[in-house]
Amino acid sequence: MRERQRSTARPRHRICPQDIVFAGVGKTDAEINRALAADIWCFNAESAEELVVLNELAGGQNRRARVALRVNPNVDAQTHHYITTGLEANKFGIGLGDLPAVVEQLPSLPHLELVGLHAHIGSQITDLAVFAELSQKLNELQAWLEEQGHHLPHLNVGGGLGIDYNDPDTNPIPDFEAYFRTFEQHLIRRPGQQVHVELGRAIVAQSGTLVSRVLYVKRSQQTQFAILDAGLTELIRPALYGSHHHIQNLSSQGEIQPYDVVGPICESSDTFGRAVPLTETKRGDLIALRSAGAYGEVMSSAYNLREKAEAVYI
Ligand SMILES: Cc1ncc(COP(=O)(O)O)c(C=O)c1O
Repeated sequence: MRERQRSTARPRHRICPQDIVFAGVGKTDAEINRALAADIWCFNAESAEELVVLNELAGGQNRRARVALRVNPNVDAQTHHYITTGLEANKFGIGLGDLPAVVEQLPSLPHLELVGLHAHIGSQITDLAVFAELSQKLNELQAWLEEQGHHLPHLNVGGGLGIDYNDPDTNPIPDFEAYFRTFEQHLIRRPGQQVHVELGRAIVAQSGTLVSRVLYVKRSQQTQFAILDAGLTELIRPALYGSHHHIQNLSSQGEIQPYDVVGPICESSDTFGRAVPLTETKRGDLIALRSAGAYGEVMSSAYNLREKAEAVYI
C-alpha cells in the first residue's frame, strides 16, 4: 500500500483533564501524581490500599481527588474467561464483601471525594441481559450507599458491548439502541445524575483491518498453510484468546479452499485460523484480517525484532 501523507496540522480538539477518568488496577505513584497535577475529573479506585495511597498523594499536592469506587459486582459477563473482569475470581474492582470496610474507611481519607460508582464486567459481551443484571446490582449498591449518606453524582457502567467478528460486512455497527435501552429500562438514575459509559471495541473494532501479504503457501500431508507476513506481533487476539477474525483473500477470485492461516512468529499459537475457506491463495496475495480496529495495533509488540506495521488512515 502506498503510504499516505501524514498531516502535520495540530489536532483541532484536545481532551480536557476535566473529561478524563483514570482507570486501572495497578496505577503507579508517578501516574497518580501526574493525574492529580492535571486535576483530572475522576480516579476509578480498585482497592482499599489504592484509596489510602491516593489520599496520601493528593494530600501531598494539597488537593482533593475525586474518586469512583470500581466495584466487582460478581456478574458473569458470559464471555471468554480472559476478558471477564466482574467475577470475584478476577483481580479487578472492590469485591462486594469488602465494600462495607472500604466505605467505612472513607471518612478517614480527607483528600478524597466520593463522586461515583464504577463497574466494568468484561468485554465482547453479546447478551444484553448481562447489562440488565449489572444495572440491578448497581441499583442495590447505590441504595445501600445512600443509606450510608453517600449521594453519587455519577454512575459509570463501563464498556463491554460486543461486535460481530463473524460477519463484519452484514453487522458493521453494534445495536447501540438496544444497549442504551437496556440501561434506560434497568438502571435507576437519581435526578441530575449522570451515567457514563466506556465503550471501546464497539466503537472502533470494525473500522480497522490488518492487511497482510502471503509469504508462502506450504502444503503438508494434512493441510495447506498460508504463511503471512503478519503474526501475533500485529494482532495477538487469536493467539491470546483463541478468538476469531474474519479472513479474506483480497487478490484472488479462485476456487474456495481450506487454509491454515498462520504468521511467521516462532510460536505455534501464531495462528489466525484453521481450515479457513479462502479463494485459491498464492505467494504475494493480500489477506485481510477484519475487525482489527480494537486490541490490534495497541497490543502489538516488537517480539522477534519485528518492526511496527504501518498504520494507514482513510
Ligand atoms: C475499565 C475499562 N473500561 C472499558 C474498557 C473497554 O472495554 P470494551 O472495549 O470491551 O468496550 C476496558 C477494557 O479493557 C476497561 O478495562
